[in-house]
Amino acid sequence: MVEKIKVKLGQGKDYDISVGSGIIKDINIIIQPLKLGDSIFIITDSKVAKLYLDKLVSILKKGNYKEIRTGIIPDGEKYKNFDSYKNLLGKLVEYNKKPNKIFIINLGGGVIGDLGGFVAHTFKRGTKYVQIPTTLLAFVDSGIGGKVGIDFNDTKNIVGGFCQPAVVIGDIDFLETLDKKEIQSALAEVVKYGVIHSEKLLNFLGENIEKVFNFDKDVLLKIVTESYKIKADIVRQDEFDTKGIRVSLNYGHTIGHAIEAASKYRYKHGQAVAVGILCANDIAVKLGLLKKEVADKIENIILKIGLPDKITGCNINNIMKHFWSDKKFITGKNRFVFIKDIGRVIIKEDIDEKLIREIIRKRISKNNLYK
Ligand code: NAD
Ligand code: GLY
Repeated sequence: MVEKIKVKLGQGKDYDISVGSGIIKDINIIIQPLKLGDSIFIITDSKVAKLYLDKLVSILKKGNYKEIRTGIIPDGEKYKNFDSYKNLLGKLVEYNKKPNKIFIINLGGGVIGDLGGFVAHTFKRGTKYVQIPTTLLAFVDSGIGGKVGIDFNDTKNIVGGFCQPAVVIGDIDFLETLDKKEIQSALAEVVKYGVIHSEKLLNFLGENIEKVFNFDKDVLLKIVTESYKIKADIVRQDEFDTKGIRVSLNYGHTIGHAIEAASKYRYKHGQAVAVGILCANDIAVKLGLLKKEVADKIENIILKIGLPDKITGCNINNIMKHFWSDKKFITGKNRFVFIKDIGRVIIKEDIDEKLIREIIRKRISKNNLYK
């Protein structure tokens, strides 16, 4: 079964997300009507390349393209950098010496999606690209919405832009080889969607966690599809994150990002976001915005997934240093996404630093609770 979700942006930028099991075999049928070009440059990382590149190339070869070339970077966040960007651009400039119309396919997780999307955004002032997510995080979050970029001088995502893909092809079979920790971490983003937008999704996740880890395709498809629908709707309303709508996707990320950076990325993104969600809720409860029982319900689901409710090995001053370098604090004041209830988001600025410190401190443990 293939589910199709439309990301409606207007100005010729609408695109489809196709999700299903085994749909990669239909890639030519999906992309050829889009007339993206006659030559393909596949961007991927070394781990994904070993698993899936040959398969993808052999399917694409049946599509009679003039040429297919690849740019493979080592796997890992530290390669979402300027050197990889330069390396890929170098290959593209060489490829471009032929009279071909090149388009890009990003095959991989969020690192490849962001880096490859940024290459596409800047090569020849914009080159069409196809997003093929292979991690759960890339499925539910990074693979759609067009935020592209690289890390620079130890600052995450500091160089980038907005560039929407021409199409997203999500074959959930790719997730079968993914590490359990990657699945677990990405589920923090699904919790986020549930909390900010859909109690139904949150409850469904809470009731089906075992099935997710047992790779139940129906459950995975439902979770991925519902997450896509929520993100697609938010991006449709606020593509460039300027209207105070897309910022809701930052729920749990204000403190989460600071924890991630302060731990020197020992905590995976989703693990840090899980604690960030709990801290945001703790603050909201303290401010009288949120009922404690709602915060407890969310905490129970986070624990059921196996995500941490506390952090270890991080110093509060270091967390606060990273907290204040959040690029979303545009006015110099801090800015939080809170909920008043499930599905009811409220944005608040200028929260008392003493309160923030007090809340984070309570979530720092001296014991190594999470391995
Ligand atoms: P990732 O791309 O590094 O992938 C994680 C690991 O899984 C890598 O080692 C990768 O090689 C491996 N992998 C990928 N697919 C696999 C598969 N099918 N089977 C086995 N292994 C596989 O990390 P990620 O968690 O997917 O993404 C994190 C990145 O996404 C960060 O750089 C973050 O900034 C970015 N991000 C971007 C957005 C956005 O809106 N653009 C949103 C959230 C996160
Ligand atoms: N991942 C946050 C966003 O796309 O806005």
